[in-house]
Amino acid sequence: KILILDFGSQVTQLIARRVREAHVYCEVHPCDVGDDWVRSFAADGRLKGVILSGSHASLWEDETLRAPRAVFELGIPVLGICFGMYAIAEALGGKVDSSQKREFGYAEVRARGHTRLLDGIQDYVTAEGHGMLHVWMSHGDKVTEMPAGFKLMASTPSCPIAGMADDERRIYGVQFHPEVTHTSQGRAILERFVLGICQAQPDWIMRDHIEEAVQAIRRQVGDEEVILGLSGGVDSSVAAALIHRAIGDQLTCVFVDHGLLRLNEGDMVMDMFAGKLHAKVVRVDASELFLGQLAGVSDPEAKRKIIGREFVEVFKAEAAKIKQTHSRQVAWLAQGTIYPDVIESGGAKSKKAVTIKSHHNVGGLPEQLGLKLLEPLRDLFKDEVRELGVALGLPPEMVYRHPFPGPGLGVRILGEVKKEYADLLRRADAIFIEELRNFEDPQTGKSWYDQTSQAFTVFLPVKSVGVMGDGRTYDYVVALRAVQTSDFMTADWAELPYALLKKVSSRIINEVRGINRVTYDVSSKPPATIEWE
Ligand code: XMP
Repeated sequence: KILILDFGSQVTQLIARRVREAHVYCEVHPCDVGDDWVRSFAADGRLKGVILSGSHASLWEDETLRAPRAVFELGIPVLGICFGMYAIAEALGGKVDSSQKREFGYAEVRARGHTRLLDGIQDYVTAEGHGMLHVWMSHGDKVTEMPAGFKLMASTPSCPIAGMADDERRIYGVQFHPEVTHTSQGRAILERFVLGICQAQPDWIMRDHIEEAVQAIRRQVGDEEVILGLSGGVDSSVAAALIHRAIGDQLTCVFVDHGLLRLNEGDMVMDMFAGKLHAKVVRVDASELFLGQLAGVSDPEAKRKIIGREFVEVFKAEAAKIKQTHSRQVAWLAQGTIYPDVIESGGAKSKKAVTIKSHHNVGGLPEQLGLKLLEPLRDLFKDEVRELGVALGLPPEMVYRHPFPGPGLGVRILGEVKKEYADLLRRADAIFIEELRNFEDPQTGKSWYDQTSQAFTVFLPVKSVGVMGDGRTYDYVVALRAVQTSDFMTADWAELPYALLKKVSSRIINEVRGINRVTYDVSSKPPATIEWE
């Protein structure tokens, strides 16, 4: 196993993900776990290496951000990334300075010497015979003096020590981020470390994750009851299947129809979970309650908070009911929170994470919920969640459904939410999705639904003039949104074929009375987000 110590970088989980991609088991823990903890973690002899993450802080800002000494006393390989490299330098007698020039983003690094970590790994070789790497850098400080025993491994003109190595002790530091895809050889470098230098066994697969997760859930929950808010989206579905695998009927899924679901969604979800999975599912029709609470509210954050709050209220009420009919107490609220949700809600350990949107399943929860949170997908990225779902035996068409946000159409109706708007949006959206499934990309043989990561329709509460038959119309506008992404943290708008857009537009305008104009959103994330609110 590999231990990743987190100094609070937003991309720490990406390191974990890369290690998992190399089929090696790893765990992420905060950097201040302490020496005794590190020693006991290593006591079973399975710990093969430690990776120290980056951080958003500067080494000078926070004295608690130091690597536990025990990390260097175990005699196992250590890799420090960015801040992690400063932590190594600091711990072993090197020097770290606030650098004059901040480097953000793309950089070219010259790989030096013959270190075990970078030997033979390069993007190209210069005329002088230097191996060069395309990397992603993000830092302000830099190492100015290497600790004794280290040799120079990489450099850039503005950062003469961009990498350092002690092959003897197998301790390495890199200033750049091998875990992000912009560092083209990043995967090779991390694989070299984990498999080559640490000699960790590449025997970890998703099925193992299921087994580990099942055990962890059983340990956490004991014989207490769990309720889970099933939205029908990929995340809550996979969480439900995983928890159901772990504790069977101790799990009750609560499917809340908040009146902001897609067309026929409710029946489909019930059919899938109660019918096929044989899970306990309670269906609650709370649409009037939600729409009532949302009346007159147009601020996106306020809407999210209301929906989050009402969810919790409905859960509490359901929990109370279940408690009356069960002998055991409902003590847990399970949610399909995945890693990008945690990051974007500023809920990660990073002290500097910024709240971009409060996802209702993380940020909107009141402190005194009265239920403990069970979030078994918290460390996973979307594509890993899907892989997990398939490994759990869920049907691929369910697992490869586009994600649907907890607040549902509530964040796809701009401004105030009204039932009339939701009804129009549902019908328009169903047409868009149906045509995405119908249209195949001849180049790949895949439908455009499968070729996009998320696609939906947004309701704009503005009216525009149109002409239909020989009458004038004055109706609402919708925007179509389709994006391609692998991690939902960045996304490109999809270049849908004109024929598809044309068909969708004409069907929506002809079939959905009340909408007379269809637009297509050509914004990428960043700077836009995927949802409009
Ligand atoms: P954004 O709009 O932040 O969306 O680029 C990224 C992904 O997150 C989904 N999303 C949500 N999911 N509750 C959820 O469960 C929310 O409040 C929420 N807001 C956005 C969005 O659909 C996309 O997949």
